[in-house]
Amino acid sequence: MALLEIKKYPDNVLKQKTQELSNIDGNTQKLIDDMLETMHSVRGLGLAANQVGISQRLCVIDLSIKEDNKIPVIILINPVIVESEGAIDAEEGCLSLPGYMSSIKRAEKVFVKGLNREGKPFELEASGLLARALQHEIDHLEGMLMFDRMSPIKREFFKRKYLRDIRKIKTDK
Ligand code: NI
Repeated sequence: MALLEIKKYPDNVLKQKTQELSNIDGNTQKLIDDMLETMHSVRGLGLAANQVGISQRLCVIDLSIKEDNKIPVIILINPVIVESEGAIDAEEGCLSLPGYMSSIKRAEKVFVKGLNREGKPFELEASGLLARALQHEIDHLEGMLMFDRMSPIKREFFKRKYLRDIRKIKTDK
């Protein structure tokens, strides 16, 4: 296994829609293991393949550090949200926007279809933190970051502040 570099905004790979996987092979299995190790090393709850520079429709979620209930690690290949219900605001962060939290409105419940790591179809109905994590990661696979869910004014403010802060960090070094 290997730790991968996590791409940060404004890296272009994060803004591109990922490609569906047509073939789940040994490389896919290695990528999944590396993504899990990378996510766990930074105590993240989810990671999309394009966040490590691979533009494939694949993401991993592990809520075990955040929630007591024993939701197993979830591997999603070619996931799609087929139904969603309700709307709820909650704070979230992103490994590609380190140090930032923001309240984002998302559906309360989602119904997701995709393939598991063996390439078998599966369906998942989720609410709470899992529903939020699924929407956040699937947005990544569409080339969207959490600020794309903000109002235009809030989004501009957030982006400007973020870009100013990372420039400051670079000059400080
Ligand atoms: Ni994220």
